[in-house]
Amino acid sequence: MHQGNQTTISEFLLLGLSNQPEEQKLLFVLFLGTYLVTVVGNGLIILAIGLDSYLHTPMYVFLANLSFADISSISTSVPKMLMNIHTKSQSISYESCITQMYFVIMFVAIDNFLLGVMAYDRFVAICYPLNYKTIMQPRICIFLTVIPWVFSNIVALTHTLLLLRLIFCDSHTLPYFFCDLALLLKLSCSDTMINELVLFIVGLLVIIIPFALILFSYIYIVRAVLRISSTEGKWKAFSTCGSHLTVVLFFYGTIIGIYFFPSSAHRDDRDKIAAVMFTVVTPMMNPFIYSLKNKDMKGALRKLISRKIFLLLMP
Ligand SMILES: *[C@@H]1O[C@H](CO)[C@@H](O)[C@H](O)[C@H]1NC(C)=O
Repeated sequence: MHQGNQTTISEFLLLGLSNQPEEQKLLFVLFLGTYLVTVVGNGLIILAIGLDSYLHTPMYVFLANLSFADISSISTSVPKMLMNIHTKSQSISYESCITQMYFVIMFVAIDNFLLGVMAYDRFVAICYPLNYKTIMQPRICIFLTVIPWVFSNIVALTHTLLLLRLIFCDSHTLPYFFCDLALLLKLSCSDTMINELVLFIVGLLVIIIPFALILFSYIYIVRAVLRISSTEGKWKAFSTCGSHLTVVLFFYGTIIGIYFFPSSAHRDDRDKIAAVMFTVVTPMMNPFIYSLKNKDMKGALRKLISRKIFLLLMP
């Protein structure tokens, strides 16, 4: 694993969110519930979109990809945490830790990029409605879903390769429930200057590129909507963005709320809240936002569920 004179370590300890047995029980139930809701909710969305040919449009294909990324995202951290609480163990092997970190970075980045792609899709739908089908042809859609995966893997790979150079000495406890890059950097006894610089620059790009895409798309969308004369037309055009806009506001609202508002919370607590929000809460929210605010999605889900009940009743 590591060559060098220093002691090398083969595992890390994940302290989790609490060391009180009572609190741990509560966290176990809470995170298990969140995990099941996320997997079932997003799974239903993927099924509903896959089975309903009415929803075979770019917007829903992107949404299905987002749901898939959300299921994967929460599956990288929560099951291991539940397992560790259950077995009263805190250890995670060096290899598992690095692998977990890779996937956490990758899926959070994918979520970001997909939200950007979905904004572009709404921009084309509202600003160029007549050319929508020609612009968003299947080839382009596949390209637009592959790009986030490629970029996110490059980002995760960069961080991981840079991390593999580092040496870890005696301290190997992470006060967290998953292996987080920033914390691993703090723990290392090598010089992490380059890693931190790359983390800062790449992190900024991962946030700013999709954010710029979203911002410009919505500036043009609002301008186009304002030009529609009838109130009903305005509302109809804008309502197709409602779900996406809610997800975006929730996502960036969380970032702003946690990082930009001076709060009394200690910095470590703030980072913990951020980690829980992005790896656990946001993946859970998307299905609710899309299925509660979107008529087509609601219809498809209802169809899916009634079909399931039908199949159960008449084998
Ligand atoms: C993601 O997008 C691709 C290409 O647009 C599509 O073929 C695929 O079915 C989507 N994935 C899911 C889980 O729906």
